[in-house]
Amino acid sequence: CGIVGYIGKKKAAPLLLAGLKKLEYRGYDSAGIAVQEEETIAILKKQGKLNQLTNAAQNRVFNGKVGIGHTRWATHGKPSDLNSHPHTDSHEKIVLVHNGIIENFRELKQELIAAGHEFNSETDTEVAAHLISSYYQADLKEAVLQAVSRLEGSFALAVMSYQEKDRIIAVRKDSPLIVGLGEHENFVASDIPAYLEYTSNFYILEDEELADIHQDKVEIYSFAGELIADKNQTKINWDAEMVEKQGYQHFMLKEINEQPESLKRLLALYLDDDQLDLGSTGLKNNWLQDYDKIQIVACGTAYHSGLLAKYLLEDKLRLEVEVEVASEYRYRNPIINQRTLLIVVSQSGETADTLAALRLAKKNGATVLALTNARDSSIAREADLLLYLNAGPEIAVASTKAYTNMVAAFYLLTVDGMRQRTEISRQEVQAYQTALIKLPELLRQVIEHTGAKVEKIAEKYAVQEHIFFIGRNTDYTLALEGSLKLKEISYIHAEAYPAGELKHGTLALIDTGVPVVAVGSRIDIFSKLFSNLKEVKARGAETMLITIENQDFEASSVDYLVELPEFNQYFVGLLTIIPLQLLAYYTALFKGEDIDQPRNLAKSVTVE
Ligand code: G6P
Repeated sequence: CGIVGYIGKKKAAPLLLAGLKKLEYRGYDSAGIAVQEEETIAILKKQGKLNQLTNAAQNRVFNGKVGIGHTRWATHGKPSDLNSHPHTDSHEKIVLVHNGIIENFRELKQELIAAGHEFNSETDTEVAAHLISSYYQADLKEAVLQAVSRLEGSFALAVMSYQEKDRIIAVRKDSPLIVGLGEHENFVASDIPAYLEYTSNFYILEDEELADIHQDKVEIYSFAGELIADKNQTKINWDAEMVEKQGYQHFMLKEINEQPESLKRLLALYLDDDQLDLGSTGLKNNWLQDYDKIQIVACGTAYHSGLLAKYLLEDKLRLEVEVEVASEYRYRNPIINQRTLLIVVSQSGETADTLAALRLAKKNGATVLALTNARDSSIAREADLLLYLNAGPEIAVASTKAYTNMVAAFYLLTVDGMRQRTEISRQEVQAYQTALIKLPELLRQVIEHTGAKVEKIAEKYAVQEHIFFIGRNTDYTLALEGSLKLKEISYIHAEAYPAGELKHGTLALIDTGVPVVAVGSRIDIFSKLFSNLKEVKARGAETMLITIENQDFEASSVDYLVELPEFNQYFVGLLTIIPLQLLAYYTALFKGEDIDQPRNLAKSVTVE
């Protein structure tokens, strides 16, 4: 979900709606705003996407200069006008917006009902409004501090009281929140892009911190009520332009096209000329000897980058690598000790399950390295070591450029590990470093050359109900990511299999005309992949093959062919992902789906 707030000299409503627009990728089941008017706090909320709210706001007059807003990704209570935020207590003294889950809301609700409170919605959030109201005695900060001491779970709240017009109280626990600092105006939001246009100075709230926000003053307190006078301001160097579409029809297409540049930005951080230097991550020069195993833990696309990394790291470093989705890892008592290097991978740096995995591993003595695209995120701050992805803001829900930089970050780690192994020649290490430098330009060429071709194939795929992906080795992990991309945005059922495994069950689903995408960029095992492709062709499948140019194969088995330039076998994955991303994009485009904001999903999942 997304939170915004404004306090200043301008009319709040347009600024709230503009902020919500920027955060829409965080959730879009419903949205709402609340504005301090002379007599009351005016609230407007609407189920559905943000434009429902924006249209409704045109028929209302909002004059107030202080307000809060929310875009929701439903957890407790289905999407509806009533369940949308902001929420209030029954006397409308307190109005608030909330991200996260209040776990003890049932107990608190009973207690409040017994004390005479009446509830309107099914949400856990409404409980917070009533609770604050029950403590309220003309000082919102004090009431919020008392209330948060009773709340369990995760929450970021922005709260207003109609009795204190020049004040927004914002609190954070396990759900991100930032305060944007302006001239005679201040902002609050759950993510930086919301107000990047207006300021580049932010307070990034830590867990259990409260911001007391006025038009001309912001003070930060601990949940114990102590003023934190030395709270650091963070300057964000992103350009507001970076969060605009810049002429592209969708953020996703823009982000696919940005990959050469964003990869360059990552390499610039860690390659000096052509010499790799990961010193700024905090990794020691000889870190490899400190660990018996690596665990890579992440969710979604980030998890797929970890799966790919396992093939490279184990092969080149001869170090055991486990890869697991964070929501499983955190609840299964994994084996962790001081000789474990936990690598958490997260675009947003705020994914609740990944953060919990990090904390679990730290508690058990592991060293934690974070690969994240958000330098000031919870995951970045809590990890021992940080490899910053530097992909720039990613807005489309389906991740593309962040994934590329995750995979590239693992390439960097692989090469850095190779450097530490005496068994590997210096020439080989150097050849790998040199290959890394060539990647951005090759990426650019692949994007340029494959777009039109993939677009044509996608037109055919748009009418399909099921699409299968197969691959071996790193290509299998790319097949997984390609099928996830397709599911996410085109809603076509897609599944990925290790090519050799297909015959152990799934082959039964292959029939005349069923599309199978064979990812075959690992030429070292291409012949094996191709025999699997022939197996499906023999059952009538319509085949697409992604491979490297100049391969020798029976063209009659391949219905659609996409060729990539020859390249280092270990690093070729970054080129291979491009046609898969484009296939998902164009298929969804032909189907007319809402590409940047696919149904039911949110970009940043800060709840379990
Ligand atoms: C959500 C997004 C996915 C993303 C996953 C992990 O489910 O929709 O695109 O891969 O979270 O996000 P993270 O920010 O941790 O990489």
